[in-house]
Formats: sequence, structure tokens, C-alpha cells
Amino acid sequence: MPVSNKLKAFAAALFIVQAFSVFGVPRGQLQVGFYSQTCPAAESIVRIAVQNAFSNDQQIAARLLRLFFHDCFVEGCDGSILLDNGSDGERSARGNAGLAGFEVIENVKTQLEATCPGLVSCADIVALAARDAVVLSDGPPYEVPTGRRDGRVSSISLAANLPDVDDSIELLKSKFREKGLTDHDLVLLSGGKGDSDPAINSQLLPQLQAKCPSNGDVDVRLPLDWTSEFKFDDQIFRNIKNGFAVIASDARLCDDKNTNKILDSYISFARSSNIGPSFKADFAEAMVRMGNIGVKTGSEGEIRQVCISIN
Ligand code: HEM
Ligand SMILES: *[C@@H]1O[C@H](CO)[C@@H](O)[C@H](O)[C@H]1NC(C)=O
Repeated sequence: MPVSNKLKAFAAALFIVQAFSVFGVPRGQLQVGFYSQTCPAAESIVRIAVQNAFSNDQQIAARLLRLFFHDCFVEGCDGSILLDNGSDGERSARGNAGLAGFEVIENVKTQLEATCPGLVSCADIVALAARDAVVLSDGPPYEVPTGRRDGRVSSISLAANLPDVDDSIELLKSKFREKGLTDHDLVLLSGGKGDSDPAINSQLLPQLQAKCPSNGDVDVRLPLDWTSEFKFDDQIFRNIKNGFAVIASDARLCDDKNTNKILDSYISFARSSNIGPSFKADFAEAMVRMGNIGVKTGSEGEIRQVCISIN
């Protein structure tokens, strides 16, 4: 079968699966294409804005991915991280230091309010922008379930429990589990981040540089390019070997039998090439799972007019 026919067959199969699953969707769940009737341009408006920002500054991709993670881990993926509540607000929490990319989200929101007022949540913009950032960084394309509504609370105390670089592996695992995420998700999502800022890198280096000890396999590193820019790299292996600094919490992944095994499974996959789990596909699934954390739907929350403050 020619590739295009295969694609068509695949698309048809997907369509059937999706058509059936519509009946099975319980209320209060997110849906791929939530805005396809009400605001068909929504996803392309986000994508174009992220592409434009990226062409000015490629670091924006890492910023937007991190923003999504930090949004989801406090009060669920509800755009609470975007609210400005001064020194009492979520953004002032220590764990949120260095977050950036807010202006890209706000710019998208302005465009969406002009195109389809009151319909698209800030929380969904963050989720879509993170996906577009992943794609621009040569990561896997994936569909983002949408329909999140925006939260109305931003408090520094609620952000006190974010995963921290100094956390033990046990604590990291339990912080992810509390959010409904597995050890596998912890490894995958930690592997999906990069540090694009050499200045930050050199500051972090002394305290954070660490090696995976255990089995003496010094090649064990997260499958990601930490050297220059945030990028999903096909040459994972070379980057792993170069052994550039992993942050302390990443090194912790090697401290634990289970997470170490998961790491190894991706790394040996890269080595032998066609057996074992696929990092990209699994990463995309983990992103979707992270995007489900504590979402507000239906009549919960609100659709903000601007992302920086509640209505
Ligand atoms: C497991 C616990 C995690 C800890 C302790 C952690 C901690 C950190 C720290 C300390 C930085 C440097 C921040 C700075 O000073 O600018 C960072 C950067 C980053 N993190 Fe995490 N992180 C974790 C998980 C994640 C996850 C799950 C994601 C996304 C899926 C993520 C995405 C990023 C990205 C993209 C950057 C680079 C941000 C930029 O260049 O602006 N992190 N992380
Ligand atoms: C901002 O912080 C204050 C003080 O903690 C709190 O009373 C208020 O509800 C917060 N505002 C929002 C929007 O969460």
C-alpha cells in the first residue's frame, strides 16, 4: 500500500475509534477538538503565535513547556500560574522562579478574545502552546484534549509543594503520584525538558552536576540534549555520552531501581533501535496525562477575559 493510502486507512481507523469514544465520554472530561465548532481557528492562532515567538527566540519553547508543567502541578491545569497576585501569588513561590513565556500566552489570549470572545480558556492556551513548543523542538506531534476552564485562585502557599531539585527520588515519585502520574511519567516528562540557557547552566552546574552511579554505566543520562537548546534529538545517544549536566532531580532518577530501569529501557532502545519503548510516543502520552491533572470543566471555574487576572 502506498504511504498515502496507509495514512488514509489509519485516519479512517482513528475516526472510527473516536466516533465510538464520543458515546463513552463521561461528562467533565476534556475532548480533542473542543473548539472545532465554536472557535475553529483557536488551535491555529495558538500555533502561529508560538511559531512567531520561536522564530524570534528559540528558548521560548522550553519556557512554554515548563510553564505548562508548573501550571498543572498547582491547582491542576487551570491557568492559575498566569494570574498576577503580587507577592501573595503562585508566581512568587520559590519553585516558580525563572518561569517565562507569559507574554506569549497573553498575546494569544488577546487574539482569541478578538476572534471568539469568552470561549477559549487560558488553561487550554497553555496546554496547546506547550504542544506546539514540543513540535517546534522536533518532538512528537500529538493531539491535545481541550475544554479546560480557568481557575480563580493564585496563592503562594498552594505552590509550596512543587517538585524541587533537592527532593529525594521517593519524594519526587510521591509528588507525581499525588497528581495521578506514574514513575514512568516522571522519567518521561523529566526527560522531555532541556535547559536552553547557558547562563543558568553555569550557575546550576556546581550544585547540580551529578552522575548516575549504580551499575557503573556512566552512559546513563536522560535522553535529551542539555548542551545547547531545547530539542528532541535523534542523536540522543551522543548527547547522553557527552554526559552534560543533568539537574539534581534528574540524577535522582538513577537512585531508584524502578526509575533507573525505565531510563535504561529508553536508552537501550536508542542503542538497538527497533525494540523497546519509543521515547517520543510515550512522552506525548505522558504530556496528555499531565494535561489532565485536576482540570476544571463544565461550569467549574471561568473563561478569563485576560490571563493575568480573574474576571
Ligand atoms: C521532576 C521534577 C522537576 C524538577 C525538580 C525541575 C526543576 C527544574 C529547574 C530547577 C529548572 C531550571 C529553572 C531555572 O532556573 O530557570 C528547570 C528547567 C526546566 N524544566 Fe524542570 N523540573 C522538573 C520537572 C520538569 C517537567 C516534568 C517538565 C516538563 C515536562 C520540566 C520542564 C522544564 C523545562 C523545559 C526547563 C527549561 C526552562 C527554560 O529554559 O526556561 N521540568 N526545571
Ligand atoms: C491573592 O492573595 C490574597 C492574599 O493571600 C488572597 O486573599 C486572594 O484571594 C488572592 N487572589 C486570588 C485571585 O487568588
